Amino acid sequence: MPSAKQLRQVFQTATSGDAESFQQIAEEIIRDERAKQHHLLANDLERILYGKPLAVGTVRQLKLNVPTDKERGLPLLSVYTPTRSLDDIVLSDENLSIVEEILLEHSRREILQSHGLQAADRLLFYGPPGCGKTVTAEVIAYELELPLAILRIDSIVSSFLGETAANLRSVFEYLQASKMVVLFDEFDALGRERADQSEHGEIKRLVNSLLQMLDAFKGSGLLIAATNHEGTLDSAVWRRFEEVLSFELPNLEQIKKFLELKFRGVRRNLLRDIPEWAKRFNGMSHADIERIIRRAIKEMVLQNKEFLEDKHLEASLKREDRRQRKIHRNGQESG
Ligand SMILES: Nc1ncnc2c1ncn2[C@@H]1O[C@H](COP(=O)(O)OP(=O)(O)O)[C@@H](O)[C@H]1O
Ligand SMILES: [Mg+2]
Repeated sequence: MPSAKQLRQVFQTATSGDAESFQQIAEEIIRDERAKQHHLLANDLERILYGKPLAVGTVRQLKLNVPTDKERGLPLLSVYTPTRSLDDIVLSDENLSIVEEILLEHSRREILQSHGLQAADRLLFYGPPGCGKTVTAEVIAYELELPLAILRIDSIVSSFLGETAANLRSVFEYLQASKMVVLFDEFDALGRERADQSEHGEIKRLVNSLLQMLDAFKGSGLLIAATNHEGTLDSAVWRRFEEVLSFELPNLEQIKKFLELKFRGVRRNLLRDIPEWAKRFNGMSHADIERIIRRAIKEMVLQNKEFLEDKHLEASLKREDRRQRKIHRNGQESG
């Protein structure tokens, strides 16, 4: 781990935007970690630092200019520096090939443009929670070396009606001016408003103007909408997206890959091998599996063990089972 002095320097140089000093201290930390034989960490840090050189200053500037809700002063979206790459996720073959194609189109968009063609820049992600919609948006941003902006439709639409139109306008102006990957999360909030006949006509008008703004949007990055409730989106919404990606629970093959990914750099002493463990995680989302493994590793560390053992995973699975049963029970009571 870096020393307190190094950490202070990282924070100072990053917040003051002093890119050169930041680079120096970051490189010093990587050297130190390597000297301590922490090669995995050193490699990761190196990849973050050099892999895709997204200027620290760019994101900082973008963050300063984020539009806010006039009434409450709340930011209407959040801007992030993406850090996870294609190597950090497990996708279905179909999604991987679509994502690779989109990345290719964008890396060669000038050539496409010279032929009067556009790179696909409107994507819709749907599927149950925890299967990679948000992280895939992050990965696309990372691979394209662009900042990631995330906004929730409901935080814009559910504020005071008069303000909503103004919010929408300022969001789109902001997006239009900067090259980013934009994720409209919880996009179904939009579908819900449209489906609800009892709603005020004004909301309907707002939703229609949102759809028009989507149509008119000519940002130079990518626009991604994500939803867990695709059933509530009507065909007017679906039509607006050039590529639609379905994110499902991982199958056994994908669970195996995911376990290998999550066990990367973890010393293991497992009696049962990965294919066997994969079966135990069948039917769970990536996020659930990740939580169970993280908890097992925590257990191992707290017990001062150097190797991950079957019993750590077993205990963690048992805890997850209790957790799910509580969620299920309470979900039924309130639903
Ligand atoms: N396909 C995946 N590959 C790798 N990690 C995943 C995947 N899906 C989910 N995760 C992990 O679970 C976390 C939550 O997933 P997220 O992308 O937010 O799901 P969603 O947006 O579909 O609800 C992610 O941050 C990531 O760490
Ligand atoms: Mg999400």
